[in-house]
Amino acid sequence: MVTRYKPMHLKALKALLIAAALSLTSTAAAPTDRSPKKMEGPEECAECHRDEATVWRGTHHYKTFREMPRSEDAEKIAKKMRIKRIKSESLCLNCHFTNQTKGGKTEPIAGISCELCHSAGKDWIKLHAEFSGNKKKENESKQQAALRWKKSEKLGMIRPRQLYKLAKNCYGCHVVPQEKLVNVGEHTAGSKFELVSWSQGEVRHNLWYTQGKENKKATAGRKRMMYIIGMVVEYETAIRAVGKATKKAPYAIKMAKRAARARKKLKLIAKALPRVPELKKILKIAKSAKLKLNSDAALTKAADRIAVEAVSLSTKYDGSKFAKLDSLIPPPDKYKGKPAKVVPTKKKPAK
Ligand code: HEC
Ligand code: HEC
Ligand code: HEC
Ligand code: HEC
Repeated sequence: MVTRYKPMHLKALKALLIAAALSLTSTAAAPTDRSPKKMEGPEECAECHRDEATVWRGTHHYKTFREMPRSEDAEKIAKKMRIKRIKSESLCLNCHFTNQTKGGKTEPIAGISCELCHSAGKDWIKLHAEFSGNKKKENESKQQAALRWKKSEKLGMIRPRQLYKLAKNCYGCHVVPQEKLVNVGEHTAGSKFELVSWSQGEVRHNLWYTQGKENKKATAGRKRMMYIIGMVVEYETAIRAVGKATKKAPYAIKMAKRAARARKKLKLIAKALPRVPELKKILKIAKSAKLKLNSDAALTKAADRIAVEAVSLSTKYDGSKFAKLDSLIPPPDKYKGKPAKVVPTKKKPAK
């Protein structure tokens, strides 16, 4: 009798463990709340944000949901990692899919969707969209609007102006701080990521405030801040990843190279902007950070100190006076993928 129920029992336990692993790793790796219980799902956002959703459906982030698990490369990685079903393996789910708990069941429901970048919406989705109880935006006072945004941020919403958090999110996936996955699974150690060029191509969906008439480019000042913050977060993420290295093998080597490259770029940035004290401090911390195996504690400490400077940079400056950086910033022909100029289609495409 007991054995008859065993398979179900195990399955339920496994689902529970996956749900727990998903919420745990998400808080450690990124500032975003990715708990499956708080995921609304991209279709909920699309109810109002139809244009942004249409652009999103043309990206790799959308397509990975169907394509990754079926790809030969995925099969190879899974085999080396002894993984049977990619879509129930929390390690892969964390970076490739949006996971949602509904009716007690946790499942991947989409690729890399809105809430993996803007944070799980349950607590703020209503609040951010209602004009503080006024029916129209015009009827909401400035103070009310400011309070609405402040509350939304407090409840976890990540807005475009929060550059540090946005960048941390991208890097939380685009650097892969998993030694076994890289050394044994031979998964890539991450992307050749850079925030300006990777956010202004296919990913760009600045269509809300232009009512879909124009997919707005980031301003010159914003691009400069994106470039700086992106590079600091690149370095921060890379040294955290080096800290997790225990073996002299591809993972450790690639992450150490990554950190060294980012440090070089940071030196160029600091040279162009000699009067920014945060950059000097970052380089000083970097100089004392030793890229060695088994140095999790020391490198985590250094990364935490760098994070403080990064937050300061992102809140103190708007980039308008940083024109000296412009020659370092990747030009539009280096953008990753083609940006949608306007909304590709007004109709909601079939799923
Ligand atoms: C009921 C309609 C509605 C839904 C559903 C909705 N939004 Fe919004 N969203 C709005 C409105 C309205 C604004 C602009 C408010 C303003 O102009 O002050 C907005 C603004 C935003 C902004 C820009 C914030 C800024 O700093 O300017 C982001 C990002 C956003 N929404 C993300 C999302 C995400 C992600 C979801 C799904 C979890 C979602 N929204 C669901 C109506 C909605
Ligand atoms: C820390 C985040 C992270 C984890 C964990 C992760 N991936 Fe990836 N994966 C990425 C990123 C980022 C890329 C894109 C790399 C690039 O820019 O080329 C990628 C690319 C891939 C690709 C090649 C592109 C594609 O979609 O076909 C495959 C296959 C893949 N991952 C499979 C897996 C499998 C299987 C697992 C679980 C065993 C997994 N990944 C776990 C972040 C991750
Ligand atoms: C890969 C991460 C990512 C995903 C996925 C994503 N966003 Fe964004 N979103 C951003 C970034 C970054 C910006 C700011 C871009 C900039 O400054 O050029 C932004 C900007 C916005 C804005 C402001 C638009 C404006 O007109 O200024 C809205 C609204 C928004 N996103 C909603 C959504 C919705 C809805 C989805 C899902 C359909 C979504 N986002 C998916 C990262 C993402
Ligand atoms: C939850 C994890 C995750 C987050 C957050 C994330 N990405 Fe990605 N991104 C991926 C994965 C995985 C792929 C590879 C998908 C594939 O090709 O199958 C990818 C692919 C891309 C691509 C396409 C690359 C190509 O090969 O053409 C761009 C561009 C990109 N991401 C930009 C961004 C930016 C910018 C941000 C932050 C604003 C971001 N991503 C946040 C996981 C993530």
